[in-house]
Amino acid sequence: MAYLFVHEDREYLLDPGERFESDLGILEVPEDVEPGDVVETHLGTGFTVRRLRGPDLFTHLERTGAPMMPRDVGLVVGKTGVAAADRVLDAGTGTGILSAYLGRIGADVVTYEQDPEFAEVARQNMEIAGVADTVEVRTGDITDDLDDLSGFDVLTLDTEDAPTVVERTPTLLDRGGSLAVYSPFVENTREVVATATEVGLDGVETLDTIQREMDFDDRGSRPSTGGVGHTGYLTFARRP
Ligand SMILES: C[S@@+](CC[C@H](N)C(=O)[O-])C[C@H]1O[C@@H](n2cnc3c(N)ncnc32)[C@H](O)[C@@H]1O
Repeated sequence: MAYLFVHEDREYLLDPGERFESDLGILEVPEDVEPGDVVETHLGTGFTVRRLRGPDLFTHLERTGAPMMPRDVGLVVGKTGVAAADRVLDAGTGTGILSAYLGRIGADVVTYEQDPEFAEVARQNMEIAGVADTVEVRTGDITDDLDDLSGFDVLTLDTEDAPTVVERTPTLLDRGGSLAVYSPFVENTREVVATATEVGLDGVETLDTIQREMDFDDRGSRPSTGGVGHTGYLTFARRP
């Protein structure tokens, strides 16, 4: 299992037995390394060993499809109420940030990725996240398998063709189950909302997730004037 090796503002994701070189020296990671250990480079710089947690995954997993940001993941978790042992259907996997977070909560996730290379990277990412047993990455287009999928508690979508899947929520979701769709543009969002309403879902609601970081300095305190405010629109609904 890979761990984070942290020295001041440096963080490296390394496996037991790995040899890593940087300007701070050569780090030989012992095979029996444990979280909490301090491992020194040959120049004597100490790296503290840490287990990966959710935000570390966002920073360190290999990226393919644009990953969902932790603040959007938080909204998905809060609005769907996804919990341990829930059955979650997700598409597309992309980097797998959302899937990995859901797996770490204890959900059983089936996630579809149409790009075979992305799917392979996502499988490796699930290994790193420690959720390879509960997050199944299927290579393929989710819309090809819709006839064979049913009985999920939560459906999470982050694809352009999400409306095609939303149309099938009455069979994909169990009664009371939740839908969450992430769309970067208003045009896709409108289509998702129209489809969810047409198929009779309850409580169709779209949220624009704007988050402002606060800056505190000697002159005063105010929301940061830098950074990107908008990430995407999240639409939620439930099967009655
Ligand atoms: C924006 S990324 C998803 C990121 C992901 N939610 C995360 O948190 O890392 C979208 C991914 O969906 C995949 N995709 C698009 N349409 C798909 C479909 N119909 N079935 C399966 N995967 C699809 C794309 O190849 C891309 O990798």
